[in-house]
Parts: sequence; C-alpha cells; structure tokens
Amino acid sequence: ENSLERCPMGGGEGKSRSLLGRANKDWWPDALPVDILHQHGVSPDPMGAEYDYAEAFSALDYAALKADLTKLMTDSKPWWPADYGHYGPFMIRMAWHAAGTYRVVDGRGGASSGQQRFEPLNSWPDNGNLDKARRLLWPIKKKYGKHISWADLFILAGNVAIESMGGPIFGFAGGRKDVYQSEGDTYWGSEEVWVGHANHKTRIRPEEQLDLEGPLAADSMGLIYVNPEGPGGNPDPLGSARDMRATFLRMAMNSEETVALTAGGHAFGKAHGAKPSESFSKAPASEAVHMQGLGWLTDSEEIGKGHITTSGIEGAWTPNPTQWGGDYFRLLFKYDYELVRSPAGAQQWQPINPDPEDMAPDARDPNKRVPTMMTTADMALKMDPEFRAISERFRDDQAALDNAFARAWFKLTHRDMGPKIRYLGPEVPEETLIWQDPVPEGTVPPDVDIAAFKKEVLASGLSIGQLVKTAWASASTYRKSDHRGGANGARIALEPQKNWAVNEPAELATVLAKLNELRGAMSLADAIVLAGSTAIEKAAKDAGFDVTVPFTGGRGDATQEWTDVESFVWMEPQADGFRNYLKTRQPVKTEELLLDKASLLGLSAPEMTVLLGGLRVLGANHGDKPEGVLTTRKGQLTNDFFVNLLDNDTFWKLIDTSSDEEFVGLDRGGQQERWRATRTDLIFGSNSQLRATAEVYAENGNEGKFVRDFVKAWVKVMNADRFDVTDKPVSS
Ligand code: HEM
Repeated sequence: ENSLERCPMGGGEGKSRSLLGRANKDWWPDALPVDILHQHGVSPDPMGAEYDYAEAFSALDYAALKADLTKLMTDSKPWWPADYGHYGPFMIRMAWHAAGTYRVVDGRGGASSGQQRFEPLNSWPDNGNLDKARRLLWPIKKKYGKHISWADLFILAGNVAIESMGGPIFGFAGGRKDVYQSEGDTYWGSEEVWVGHANHKTRIRPEEQLDLEGPLAADSMGLIYVNPEGPGGNPDPLGSARDMRATFLRMAMNSEETVALTAGGHAFGKAHGAKPSESFSKAPASEAVHMQGLGWLTDSEEIGKGHITTSGIEGAWTPNPTQWGGDYFRLLFKYDYELVRSPAGAQQWQPINPDPEDMAPDARDPNKRVPTMMTTADMALKMDPEFRAISERFRDDQAALDNAFARAWFKLTHRDMGPKIRYLGPEVPEETLIWQDPVPEGTVPPDVDIAAFKKEVLASGLSIGQLVKTAWASASTYRKSDHRGGANGARIALEPQKNWAVNEPAELATVLAKLNELRGAMSLADAIVLAGSTAIEKAAKDAGFDVTVPFTGGRGDATQEWTDVESFVWMEPQADGFRNYLKTRQPVKTEELLLDKASLLGLSAPEMTVLLGGLRVLGANHGDKPEGVLTTRKGQLTNDFFVNLLDNDTFWKLIDTSSDEEFVGLDRGGQQERWRATRTDLIFGSNSQLRATAEVYAENGNEGKFVRDFVKAWVKVMNADRFDVTDKPVSS
C-alpha cells in the first residue's frame, strides 16, 4: 500500500482542496497576464512549430559549449562574484534544484522544460539567488542559441561544474525542449505562506512517517525537499532523516541514493547566511521592473564582500569546497558538532575544536580560515542509524561514493526524460538502467497475418468492452510529464500493473491469456492495442460507420526483471474517469481527477470529451458498472452518451447525499429512472465549456464526426509513447 491510499480527505477533516492549489495568480495577483494572448489555440512558443530541437541540437558544437562552460566556472563577475573564484558549486545547486522538483507520483516537476525560469519556481525561497546562476549562463545561451535549450543547459552546467572540480560523471543526455510559459498544471501545495510546513497531512510525531499530501515531494511550499534547519525549523537530525526518506522516496530515490546525493553535493560550495534573512523577501516575481527579473539583491558592496544571504545558514561543509573528495564524511565523523546560530540567525551545526587544516577558506579571502558547518539535514546522515551505515561505508570507500554519486546524479537529472530513445548527444551512457523503463526493441514479424488476428479476436468470445478496456488500461498509463507508462512494453501483464484494482486483475488475466493464445509472433503489446482497435472498428460498424483504426505495430514486450516495480507502484491510478473508476475519494473532486489524467495524457478538452463519451457506450466502465452508460445499445460506437446526457427531459438527482458521487437520471415526472451517472459523467453537462463541447458531439449531423474524432483521440493515446515512430525524441 502506498500512502496515497490512506487518509483520503486530506487530513481526515473532510476538507477538499482545489486541483491546482495555490497558483501563480494567488502569489502574484498583479503580475502581467501575458497568457490572455494565448487563447483559442494561440501558442506562446516563439520558435514555432517548425523548430526541431533534436535537429538543432545535432548541429551543436558540443565540445566548444563544454569548453565555454568550463571557462565560465572561474570567470568571476563583479556583480555576483564567485565564492572561492569558482561558480561550480552554485551551478550544481542550480541544476539540482532544476531537477529536484520532480515527483514520481504524477511525473511532474523536474528539469525537462526549464521551468526554473518561470514563476513560481524562479521565486521559490529554496531557489534563492539561483536567478544569478541562470543570468551568468545567459552569454553562453545567447551564443549557442537554438542549438541548446535552457533546460539542457541547466543540467549540462551542473555536469561541467562537477567535472571541473574533479567529480565523477556518468553521462549527459540532451533533449529537453524549452517551453515559453509557466506550466500551470502542477500542484505545488495549498499553503498560503512559503515554507509553512502545512503539507504534512497531520502533525507528526518523530517516530511516525511523514505522510505527504497528494503528489507532493517536499515537506513545505517553496522547498525542494526538506527544511535544512530540520522539521519545521526544529534542529532534529532524526526527524530530518525521516523527512528526507519520505521526500526523496517521492522521487524514487532510495536511502543509498539519498545519502550519496546529499553528501556528494555538499562536498562542494557553501551556504549563505551572512545577513538578516529579511533581505531575502523580494523574490524576482515581486521585484520592480528595473531589476530586470532579478530578486534577492542587497547592495553591491555587500555582495562584493561576500555578505550574501540565501538559506540563512552560513559556511562551507569542507576545507576544500571546490574540490571533489571525501572530506565531507571525514569531517562529519571526525568531529562532534554543536548547535550554533549563523549570523542570519539560522540553526546549524559546527565542529567542536576543529584542527586548523580542517577549517574552510573564506569565500572571498583564501588566506582567512573560517569554521566549517553541517545543516541539520547533513547531521541526519550521521545520526540516523540507517543513513549512518551507508555514510560509514562511503567514508571508507571513496570509489563506492564516486560510483553511487555519479549514478544518482545522472538519475536525478535525467529521470523525467522518459525512455532512452529520447536521449541526445555524444555523452549518452551505453548502459541501460532500470529506471529508464527499458523495452526491448519490437518488430512486426513479416509473417504476422493481421487480418486473421482481427478475425480471431472478434470470434474469441471476448466482449467489445473487454478488448477496449484492456487496450485503454495498457496505453493510458502514459503521462507526458515524465514520458513513462504507455502501451509499449505490455507492462500491464507484469507486476505491479496486472494487479492494480483499476485493471480488474481477474478479468484482465483472462483477456491477456486469450490474446497470448492468438497473437502468434506478434508482441503482446501490439496484440493488446490491435485487439482494442479491432473492437472499435467492429463497434463503429455496428453503429453504421465503416472506419479503419490506424495501427502501427512494432512495440516490444518488457520483462519483469527490467521493471522497476517500486517506482511503478506510485503510478497506480487512484481514479480513472475514462473507466468511471474511483478507488478512494481524494481531497479533490472526482471530476478534477479526470481533468488531471487527461492533462497527463496530453489530451485537449474535445479529445477528453469524445474519448469519455465513446468509452462509456463501448462498455469500458470498471466492473461493467452502469453509471454513465447512457445508451441502450452498449458495444456500438454511437454518440448516445452525449444525446442522452443533454436530453432536457431527464433531470438528475443525487442518490447518496453522504458521498456526492452517484446520481440517478429521472424523467421529468420524477417517476421513472432512466440512467445512472457519476460526477465524472455529469460534469459534461454542468461545466459550461465541457457542455459546449458535448453539444457538438450530440448534434444531428455530427454522428460521423464523433466516430472520426473518437478514433483520432484513441490512436493518439495508443501511440502516445511511440517515440520510435510518431515523434521526434524531444516533443514535450
Ligand atoms: C547548498 C540544503 C541536497 C548540492 C545548500 C544550502 C542548503 C542546502 C541550505 C545552502 C544554500 C545557500 O545558502 O547558498 C540541502 C538539503 C538537501 C540538499 C536540505 C537535502 C536534504 C543537495 C543535493 C545536492 C546539493 C542532493 C546535489 C547533488 C548543493 C550545493 C550547494 C548546496 C552544490 C552549494 C551551493 C553554493 O555553493 O552556492 N544545500 N541540500 N544539495 N547544495 Fe544542498
């Protein structure tokens, strides 16, 4: 059981929240509403639809770019001088914060679209001063232009930084295409203050698990993971370890990866807590126009002296902050640490009686020595028994740390790019990694008789509903956020998907067994999709429409061994409105879960509408339940769902006032029950925009359009993960 299934109503108080929580408009109500220019299908992308990033990237002088980045690291600028004369640590933090917003639950966040340039991330407290890191990169971005995206540049700068300080690197893949607006579909929390610690569903005692709300992967609004000073600002290393485990797990990082990343990252650089943290208040999004998108600036004389406040914590972790090595663990274990306060007042830990050679250089004056420090989160790596065992191993085995850090960094920064086929560039590692969800290359065997297979499927005794549902179950796991899931690989036949409640395991097993019997040399993944499409052709034909559902074979079948079960567990749908399925009520309205799923599938409102209406009449409901099956000829591809939903002679009534989920449609006399429906069905009549779309599909003369649009949207879902055929690797 994962924690999404517990405590369905957000803290158990029966309070619901809005789908997107606190959004940019709530934080910055006065921001210029540029988005009004992008209505009615107008794109904000200045590069235009013809721009092909993969092609542009292939013409990049990659070696020259890396050389320029290397030079940049030690080219200190007076307007933001480099600590120790080296921007490397700063760039690593920027890259880590770009990638670290990723969360495995919905695949959103992450580095892949360069969101750190936009609100809210550009103004998150935890991203303090990273505006300068990005600005330092501008001359390089300008020079290489369309050949390198910001999103790729952030991560590559992190890699070059690590390399330039002697750190281990596993590889780099390009392919992150920039977007030109803030992605509004990501729920970052509902807190109305930054770093308010309210994302803990319940106040937790130290021995309890941190139960994070919904998809979130940070313990507070505006943080990447945890509060460095400890839970709720309380300097409690064990509590910090607990929260680190929970938050890193939400990124599918295990304890070893968590320790390696944190210790490896803090081998470099320093924390900034020179001044009272009020100077921190004006983030880029709130600053005056003449600040040109920069925030958090104190006067330049102070900056020149290195009097900078970012986190409020002050000091370096090691005596060699621009040099990869084992000093972090050496110091962590060599000394006892006492709790002190930084000049900015933050709680941090300082070694007791350090030897002079274990002091750090001053960030501006190499001849001056200052004490090193650890944050409460760093102390967790020593005080927590599980973390400690890993830390001691790394302390005693530098090669093991090198290897673990390099791999975890690669995973961190490439996690949201999807399958390896989307990777670009000369530094893509050969080795295949399990978190890439590898699928062996598929082929369409030349002797497969597709026509015969289709005939056999229709004669197999499996219903239209069963065939459609299985194909839908297989393909609809896809999410455009991190390009995971989809029909390729047929992971629906593997753990954990084959046992997900949404997939009706017993029935699924029967369908898969039959398809396995019929498919011959075709992959199971192809057979599932082809069988579903065959069922749709038959259902359309029975409704009087002769259509072909385009099929592109060539999917492969994945193996259980190469399936990262633990990270797939998070992907289990808690709801699938397209199958009228709700596992547990969530803190958001059930129709919002449908919208969320449609968004992850990359569907437009018309596509969502036509698919849902079609799936209802085809009989794809979970458990074959009657809700929303607004037809008397189930199994035929008709527009009956829309016609009957919008019938003025039906009125709808809530059945069970306690749940607010199920409704009955009565005739106007109130005597006769006509239909049953859920919120997910009725939203297409009640929401004005969805109603307008539903009307189109109900109108006389649009029956054929309904069928054609359904088929188009269906094929889009079936092929959503076909990066090998439909799509250049970089499409977002
Ligand atoms: C800096 C906290 C994980 C790399 C910092 C700072 C804090 C912090 C408070 C100081 C920021 C400032 O005041 O300038 C944490 C916490 C973590 C974590 C709580 C997880 C529990 C990581 C990871 C990496 C990383 C995973 C990279 C792999 C860095 C680097 C710096 C830094 C390189 C120095 C930046 C500079 O010198 O300007 N971190 N960090 N951190 N962090 Fe982390």
